Amino acid sequence: MCGIVGVLGRGPVAGPIVDALKRLEYRGYDSAGVATLENGRLERRRAEGKLKNLEAKLAAEPLAGAIGIGHTRWATHGKPTVANAHPHASPRLAVVHNGIIENFKALREELAAKGYHFATETDSEIAAFAVEDELARGKTPEQAVHAALGRLRGAFALVYLFAGEDDLLIGARQGAPLAIGYGDGEMFLGSDALALAPFTDRISYLEEGDWAVVTREGADIRDRDGKRVKRRIQRSPPGSLLAEKGNYRHFMAKEIHEQPEVVGHTLAHYVDMAAMRLKPFAWPVDPTKLARVTIVACGTAYMAGLTAKYWIERFARLPVEIDVASEYRYREAPVDDGGLTIVVSQSGETADTLASLRYVKERGSKTVGVVNVPDSSVARLTDVLAPTLAGPEIGVASTKAFTCQLAALAALAIGLGKARGTIDEAAEATLVGELIATPGLLAEALKLEPAAEKLAQAVARARDVLYLGRGTSYPLALEGALKLKELSYIHAEGYAAGELKHGPIALIDEAMPVIVIAPRDAVFEKVVSNMQEVAARGGRIVLIGEKRAAEEAAVTIEHFLAMPDMSANFAPIVYAAPIQMLAYHTAVIMGKDADQPRNLAKSVTVE
Ligand code: F6R
Repeated sequence: MCGIVGVLGRGPVAGPIVDALKRLEYRGYDSAGVATLENGRLERRRAEGKLKNLEAKLAAEPLAGAIGIGHTRWATHGKPTVANAHPHASPRLAVVHNGIIENFKALREELAAKGYHFATETDSEIAAFAVEDELARGKTPEQAVHAALGRLRGAFALVYLFAGEDDLLIGARQGAPLAIGYGDGEMFLGSDALALAPFTDRISYLEEGDWAVVTREGADIRDRDGKRVKRRIQRSPPGSLLAEKGNYRHFMAKEIHEQPEVVGHTLAHYVDMAAMRLKPFAWPVDPTKLARVTIVACGTAYMAGLTAKYWIERFARLPVEIDVASEYRYREAPVDDGGLTIVVSQSGETADTLASLRYVKERGSKTVGVVNVPDSSVARLTDVLAPTLAGPEIGVASTKAFTCQLAALAALAIGLGKARGTIDEAAEATLVGELIATPGLLAEALKLEPAAEKLAQAVARARDVLYLGRGTSYPLALEGALKLKELSYIHAEGYAAGELKHGPIALIDEAMPVIVIAPRDAVFEKVVSNMQEVAARGGRIVLIGEKRAAEEAAVTIEHFLAMPDMSANFAPIVYAAPIQMLAYHTAVIMGKDADQPRNLAKSVTVE
């Protein structure tokens, strides 16, 4: 799940390529590289680690070529060393690759037997030599790429640059995204439209199996069989894709603070605010005929889906089956023909989520995709798109996309209830009223930042942290633990508060903070009992709850984050803010990179 770029420019392209890679760094940042043609000769600059290392290398050894390719890597095969960094090269070409070439071992043996020598352990290098081998048989670059593509198995996107060909890049898409940008006498290729946004607002997306011969004149797109195809050129509104940090130190901080606005935007898509009703939603199945709903997602998007399970079961009286996509896709789950599956994904490119979507579609399920990136693979494959309008999320740890997913899923849950007659118009109006109050409440909750920062000082010294919640606060406890561990590398676990006594209570001691998420909901009293169990064993309690909750808990509380009073149905949308701020500040205090935590990538396009 790396980021790839290609530029056919009118002047030197190394700088613009690095700029585009910066916008793709969310896809991985283990190493980076650029290749250009210098008087027809292939030249590469590559560096371990983040892009700033590549920039330093380019400053010391500049490249002047007007055609080039670039890459930012999330390592799959081979360590993140310079040798394994892309672009990979064979004598006559260089290539950047995103994805996995599954049959690389067999191809490597086959090509080694022909006398080719490899410089790396990567699967990507095989994508170079497979084409080199075809060129050696006298084929043109175009014929060679087409023939080689037929030999490669897996999910990948590729861009090739050829020695001596200063007006030719060839890109291919098979399972990983690739967009083409149309400029004025210039052409661009990139993993997404965001990478290309400063160059052009005219973008087309390759479809599965497509490959494109790109010159400064334009793009000649072919399908898997080599037949010419047209892919619509779309205009992205100016500036819509550009993401800047503004006055914030990190994208993550900016994205946390954008939540009142983007949750509001998302809700406005689903709700008629004046009439306090839901706007009509084009369900791909008749909700009254459903026996259950399936939800599939990964990571934070899964936590949003798990919260939706509570809402759909409560409002629509429909059983919900939910699983992480990496399990779902392989466990041979029975699928209801004509049933409903909801997939949730910020990027819309997560490999396991995409595979699960294909799995249910092949078995007759209708699908709704709760997706943030509108042109993504999931968005395009799903029967009905339920967008989240979070805007580009650059921080690797998901924040605003999560609360927008919750907002969209809450609206869908109410909508399912309405369509099934399990809630009437009065209940709809009440729920919609509660839901549209969440942006304002989020703004209130964000004022707790100084308190969250103070708490972070204590959490930063902990070795382990436990998060507890019940009902819809249980998924949020899981999310709190995920945010803290991915950002600060502190070990954290989320637990259903009622499960505490079935094992984890053995962990309670005077060192481990226990963060209790306790909005005033139907299980509040039960959570208070669980807190007392912790207190009785000398545990350090951090309470996130409404103003009166601390008194009512009647236990010693080390830190209290006093949340605004609210009706509890949609509390997770609001309570997400303090857990995000806590994880963010803990990471910053500990000197960790809050936007780009180690080993992670924003868009997980490998399984
Ligand atoms: C955690 C995080 C990840 C993603 C997961 C799914 O902060 O961001 O767990 O939620 O990789 O990604 P999408 O939503 O793009 O499918």
